[in-house]
Amino acid sequence: MDIHHRDSPLFFSVNSVVKDFFIFYDGHSQKEPKLFRLIIKNMEIDYHDKVRARILSNGDFVRAQFSGTQKGAELKWVKVIIRPIELKGILHLQFSYFDGLKDISKNYPLEKSAAQIDKVLSMPFRNIFVETMSGNLQVNISKKGKALVNERKPETLPVHPDLAHNREKNRLLSAENAQPFLEAVGILTKDGRIKADMQRKYKQINEFLRLLDETNSFDDFKGKPLHVVDFGCGSAYLTFAVYYYLHDILDLDAHVIGVDLKEELIERHRKKAKELGWDQLTFEVGYISDFQPKIIPDVVVALHACDTATDDALLHGIRWDSKLIVCAPCCQHELQEQMAHVPAPTAMESVLGHNILFERMGDILTDTFRAAILRIMGYRTDITQFVPIEHTGKNLMIRSLKTSPAGKNEQHIEEYKNLKKFWQVTPYLEKILGEEYAQYLK
Ligand SMILES: C[S@@+](CC[C@H](N)C(=O)[O-])C[C@H]1O[C@@H](n2cnc3c(N)ncnc32)[C@H](O)[C@@H]1O
Repeated sequence: MDIHHRDSPLFFSVNSVVKDFFIFYDGHSQKEPKLFRLIIKNMEIDYHDKVRARILSNGDFVRAQFSGTQKGAELKWVKVIIRPIELKGILHLQFSYFDGLKDISKNYPLEKSAAQIDKVLSMPFRNIFVETMSGNLQVNISKKGKALVNERKPETLPVHPDLAHNREKNRLLSAENAQPFLEAVGILTKDGRIKADMQRKYKQINEFLRLLDETNSFDDFKGKPLHVVDFGCGSAYLTFAVYYYLHDILDLDAHVIGVDLKEELIERHRKKAKELGWDQLTFEVGYISDFQPKIIPDVVVALHACDTATDDALLHGIRWDSKLIVCAPCCQHELQEQMAHVPAPTAMESVLGHNILFERMGDILTDTFRAAILRIMGYRTDITQFVPIEHTGKNLMIRSLKTSPAGKNEQHIEEYKNLKKFWQVTPYLEKILGEEYAQYLK
């Protein structure tokens, strides 16, 4: 069967079987004639084959993400991410299953991964994105169950060794200045190279540090203790990196705490910190919202704390009057739920009619409201791109520096009220801040 693109890459024509007949995959429909169903089945196989082949392409595959739920279906997982990792020198695929709060990861040798990929393919996910060095494949299942397939060359060139070298120079933590640390957390090989499956994490933590550092907040802490909390620390590469950077490179009296729900992970991090002799790096198991520090943190960070966990982190930072609050938000569902239950503003109907734009608008608004609240609470705030889009779609960072007392800027308050009125929603952060914030809206 020949498959050709029509004017849009999302459409296929099957010209060897049905001339000029544009089809979609519709797995649920019983109405099509037999020939048509046959083609449709081939289409399904076609995109399954494409997805599977790309994920199994040794050396080329970068990352695959399955997300969203098809209309009318139910899914245990919010998303599944597959990525290559090296275990004892052997290439494996790591399957991470996220349920919105925590994730479960399983590793399979590459040659035993096909069946696992098929299991994920059989789940009713709405969006599939497979990233490889040579190009990206995107599959979106429409509300009517049609599979829209888009294949694209990467928007940026694959990393050229020279470029990588130049980028290296800008990194705050490098093999030169942070070798013992990078080795201890498993980013660096014994012979001083960044492990292939750790490149992404390495770049991510370096970018996070760079954007923290850019705020010039740390000079004030020379000669006095600096307390930092990392909420939803997960695998804690960032927590260890922040500690190493502040303590060993900037030579500050830094005390860093990582907080996460996952007991097992936290136990492992405690052991690692002890082995390294980093006694001012500690970890706590628990919900962000329940966290009660012995000493109020000066700096709050959160990297991809799931959904409203980012708001819980912001809430603490605001309540504590922390000097610096830096969050890279994760997936966001709470505001979308609200948006789905109120009529769309008339002028926005044509935007919100597209599922993907509805979701993105939900994300954009969530972060806009978060930044607006931070401003009203006296934080100079910006939203900046944190890593390139080809790393992750969750590439925004909200950076806030306490510069003035809360509730002083009438214009910010007016803008916030207008935005709320337009969208007819109440941001989660406003709800959890309660009267402390509501007083400024009166
Ligand atoms: C996507 S991971 C990010 C981990 C880490 N910050 C990183 O970027 O590598 C999110 C982490 O937040 C934790 N988490 C989610 N909600 C939480 C909550 N309410 N309280 C504490 N931890 C939470 C999860 O257990 C998970 O480890």
